[in-house]
Amino acid sequence: MNLLKERILADGKVLNGSILKVDSFLNHQIDVNLLNEIGKEFKSIFGSQKVTKILTVESSGIAVACITAQHFGVPVVFAKKASSKNMDLDIYTSVVHSYTRDTTYTMNVSKRFLNESDRILIIDDFLANGNAVLGLNDIIQQSNALLIGVGIVIEKGFQNGGDLLRNQGINVKSLARIHSMHNGILVFE
Ligand code: G4P
Repeated sequence: MNLLKERILADGKVLNGSILKVDSFLNHQIDVNLLNEIGKEFKSIFGSQKVTKILTVESSGIAVACITAQHFGVPVVFAKKASSKNMDLDIYTSVVHSYTRDTTYTMNVSKRFLNESDRILIIDDFLANGNAVLGLNDIIQQSNALLIGVGIVIEKGFQNGGDLLRNQGINVKSLARIHSMHNGILVFE
């Protein structure tokens, strides 16, 4: 998606050789017009298939999932990373390790919001090692829903998440796929 790639080149910052900071338009300040174009693009990629819900994980995935969901006319369900007093007791859970943050957390989704009649599109902002998507897919499997595909805004192709998921037969589509970020120079695939 050229609009997105141009924006990454203009406003993205490479940190420590492997982290891309895009907080001026994607995951802190949000450019809603750009997000709307991203939502349209996901609709044109996955729109030929029936989707009943979009699934993501808090927090940065929520904005892009919501705007995409408007194009599909379906609800968004987001996995919560922390349990709270008002969370249902009847939940699907999956334990996820984040290499980028070096933390392990539990994803929680109420059983009321996913079931075997659902056809799920996963949407997330970044794909690095793939663990967030694996956790979401674990929850989809527990609910007996069907995973239709995975839409990612920015895939770091030099990390192993994309290969891991595609080798499992998961239909992963990324709008910008980064080949390398050596010496602060970002190269798309
Ligand atoms: P994985 O899911 O692909 O395995 O990725 P990983 O756990 O390594 O990434 C953990 C978090 O870091 C994710 O956010 C992911 O979106 C974010 N992340 C990974 N690489 C980058 C990067 O290069 N730039 C930026 N800006 N973020 C990156 P999260 O845990 O879901 O937290 P949140 O920020 O959405 O709350």
